[in-house]
Amino acid sequence: MKTIIITGGAGFIGSHVVRLFVNKYPDYDIINVDKLTYAGNLANLRDIEGKPNYRFVKADICDFDFMFDLMKTHRVDGIIHLAAESHVDRSIKDPFTFARTNVMGTLSLLQAAKTYWESLPERYEGKKFYHISTDEVYGALELTHPEGKPSEISAHEVYGDEFFHEYTKYNPHSPYSASKASSDHFVRAFHDTYGMPTIVTNCSNNYGPYQFPEKLIPLFINNIRHRKPLPVYGKGENVRDWLYVVDHARAIDVIFHNGKIADTYNIGGFNEWKNIDIIKVVINTVDRLLGRKEGEDLDLITYVTDRQGHDMRYAIDSTKLKNELGWEPSLQFEEGIEKTVRWYLDNQEWMDNITSGEYEKYYESMYADR
Ligand SMILES: NC(=O)c1ccc[n+]([C@@H]2O[C@H](COP(=O)([O-])OP(=O)(O)OC[C@H]3O[C@@H](n4cnc5c(N)ncnc54)[C@H](O)[C@@H]3O)[C@@H](O)[C@H]2O)c1
Repeated sequence: MKTIIITGGAGFIGSHVVRLFVNKYPDYDIINVDKLTYAGNLANLRDIEGKPNYRFVKADICDFDFMFDLMKTHRVDGIIHLAAESHVDRSIKDPFTFARTNVMGTLSLLQAAKTYWESLPERYEGKKFYHISTDEVYGALELTHPEGKPSEISAHEVYGDEFFHEYTKYNPHSPYSASKASSDHFVRAFHDTYGMPTIVTNCSNNYGPYQFPEKLIPLFINNIRHRKPLPVYGKGENVRDWLYVVDHARAIDVIFHNGKIADTYNIGGFNEWKNIDIIKVVINTVDRLLGRKEGEDLDLITYVTDRQGHDMRYAIDSTKLKNELGWEPSLQFEEGIEKTVRWYLDNQEWMDNITSGEYEKYYESMYADR
């Protein structure tokens, strides 16, 4: 592999994947293709932007001609596809944008790669299209152990008998998960129909540095700091399985290089938390690191009307990835959440730039030509 396009590399997970590949593989040319929507932020990549094996291209994955030319010009061998609209609440308000980017964008990218790779004498040899997806495509699991665990940081609790496996039937409920499910099907169809070497992975909730502060953990860290309300859906009973973002990037590296073509891998940390419990952990950690009395800000919690169609429980079984490719999460949750809270508190300028919209102005002046 010599030249790899990573789409969505200015986003949360994408920026960690770009950083890992640029630093670990100096012989690869890494092209970060990102449209820089509200969620894309080049400040996520300041530490690697000057590296000789890295380039940024502002483009829309839906632009077939541009993406085809880019692949041809740079003789692209691999694509790691993360670009997407990713926020469930936004998908409920505006499902069309999700269908456009996640479904049509993925299809357009597949078609561009197919057209380019099939024009080569070696066709698909040495090529790979790796699509990053979510556990949300599997739908929702039941909560069968509702007592759960108290809110202190401790070993993970298991809140039900079932897990999502690679063979679990798709059953998406939100416009976001429906659009991701559709894109997964297109990727697999390109393998089955045209023989394109594809891989799909489905990962649980990620947390860590550089996540856009509309998502629970960074939003709440910032709100606690500024003593703003913490809006919790329903009773906060919904369970999510949390993975430190750098561990997801490590998994993507392992799977991109050693995963079986046409296969699917689930990625997760066996780390289930009820929303309300994780929120309490975040409050206690922020309070402690800011020198406040631990738990002082618990009264910021404000229960709000539940999200429409809110899935109760997600829990990934990533045993296959461990058994076949030897991947396991490197960080315990206690360590990961401490690092995460510390990062957001230490990088207040990054947060303020986003919440004040400063970074959008910066892009407008820099990339006004496209
Ligand atoms: N965040 C999670 O917990 C999680 C979990 C599992 C899977 N995923 C998947 O991982 C991928 C990345 O998620 P994330 O949380 O980093 O998302 P994100 O919203 O932080 O980043 C998405 C990036 O894609 C870019 N983008 C959006 N539309 C584009 C387009 N049309 N053309 C080019 N670029 C475009 C945005 O500018 C942004 O930089 C997504 O495919 C998501 O479905 C996310």
